Amino acid sequence: MNFTLSSKALDTISADCLVLALPQKGEWPASTSAADKALDGLIGKLQSAGDISGKNASVQTVPLTDSHWQRLCIVGTGDDESRTPANYRKALTAAVNVLKDGPSKHAIVALADTQLTGDSATTSERARLSLIGRSLEEHLYTFNQYKSEQPAARNLNKVTVTASTGGKAEKDAFNLGLATGRGMNFTRDLGNTPPNICHPIWLAEQAEKLAKDHDCIKTEILDEKQMADLGMNTILAVGKGSRQPPRFIIMEYRGGNAKDKPHVLVGKGITFDSGGISLKPGEGMDEMKYDMGGSAAVFGAMQVIAEIKPKINVVAVIAAAENMPDGNASRPGDIVTTMSGQTVEILNTDAEGRLVLCDALTYVKRFDPAAVIDLATLTGACIVALGHHATGLLANNDDLANELLAAGDRANDKAWRLPLWEEYQSQLDSNFADMANIGGRPAGTITAACFLARYAKDYRWAHLDIAGTAWHSGKAKGSSGRPVPMLVEYLMSHAGN
Ligand code: BES
Ligand code: MN
Ligand code: ZN
Repeated sequence: MNFTLSSKALDTISADCLVLALPQKGEWPASTSAADKALDGLIGKLQSAGDISGKNASVQTVPLTDSHWQRLCIVGTGDDESRTPANYRKALTAAVNVLKDGPSKHAIVALADTQLTGDSATTSERARLSLIGRSLEEHLYTFNQYKSEQPAARNLNKVTVTASTGGKAEKDAFNLGLATGRGMNFTRDLGNTPPNICHPIWLAEQAEKLAKDHDCIKTEILDEKQMADLGMNTILAVGKGSRQPPRFIIMEYRGGNAKDKPHVLVGKGITFDSGGISLKPGEGMDEMKYDMGGSAAVFGAMQVIAEIKPKINVVAVIAAAENMPDGNASRPGDIVTTMSGQTVEILNTDAEGRLVLCDALTYVKRFDPAAVIDLATLTGACIVALGHHATGLLANNDDLANELLAAGDRANDKAWRLPLWEEYQSQLDSNFADMANIGGRPAGTITAACFLARYAKDYRWAHLDIAGTAWHSGKAKGSSGRPVPMLVEYLMSHAGN
């Protein structure tokens, strides 16, 4: 697929489809007026005849003869007051979905001159170009690798997006949107890959591949022996019930000054979570292949960083293991000494995410981080609390929490903060070890974060529980690519260029 940005006049670009915005009420964007003029008032006529309404996210295709364009694709953009970035995104989604399976090979998307309501960071032309780029990549995504019958090849192979000027700022914004969409799609590919393929060694190979494709990424993979030498006993305790050995994956991007402290991302990489000896019920267990969603988002964000090359230092680590029941698996009652030296009584082998993350959180101290953000499909309780719209956010630092919340809002990839008060900590008391790995039914997302907090005391830290947001259940089952947009927004806000 070829995506380009152009500032040429519309009627000098030929294409089989011109995608235009039509507001329900209020002034037309310049490109809609220009096209209407070139087509002798056709759009105005269609609107007054009632053939097109302008209702937000409605799409109408109109065939043309004797024109630069074979057809128009008219996208409703509602009225001025309700044209928020979220509603604009819906209109973009509808337009891209029409292009996806349509007959056109080359489409011009003239939607960037539509004015939005809201603050300028999310409504400027640059923000709109970025949203268009992201929408194009995000909604043209398919995952058919494992179907023996391949769908017919797509007609669309070129999209030209128009902008007022082809300046560097516009190009950068558009490219960042495209890269973010591609990063999300990488995350989705990893999350959708079946667990018989996507195991810890396969995940490690994805890191090696990323490093091979991008010179700016360095990677290091630790095997069980190296993990044992470091004392990463909790990761090993989770992985030892599986025939697939665990791996610890480190990726480094150093685009900033040598003295700039790195932003550290930590991903939960459970490539399948059966629950272990505390076996999960059978229904929907297939979905536990996406228990590496945190690590998938880390990969997606690193790919974006590798493509955009911002002036920032980013280190990513992934604790990859498979949680299986076996004669050699950890049992409820086992006590393990973590890399930090603190001991944990494993009361439930299904609370394995925090076990792999605690050693990762101890490991990353060596990077002297500016901040550490861990991402994990950690608790079913987070889905009960927040559903599928907001990622759960818990942090030991208010500034970091607020930054991430704001980044999520700007990127339309929202999080909601839950408290991490000391009062909850006693739910983790153990009679036999320093702590238990579960805190009972009340506030399951908070007590999981309380556990992690005990390993993250030495730096600014935030935890993102993405159990409800990394995945779509039901008919559109599959990985969502979240929270790559939030991470990218956060990281780019720290970039020196
Ligand atoms: N991976 C699960 C959490 C999860 C559940 C993610 C559903 C997405 C959808 C995690 O490892 C887990 O099993 N958590 C337990 C914790 C409990 C044993 C304290 C849970 O949420 O039930
Ligand atoms: Mn589990
Ligand atoms: Zn899990």
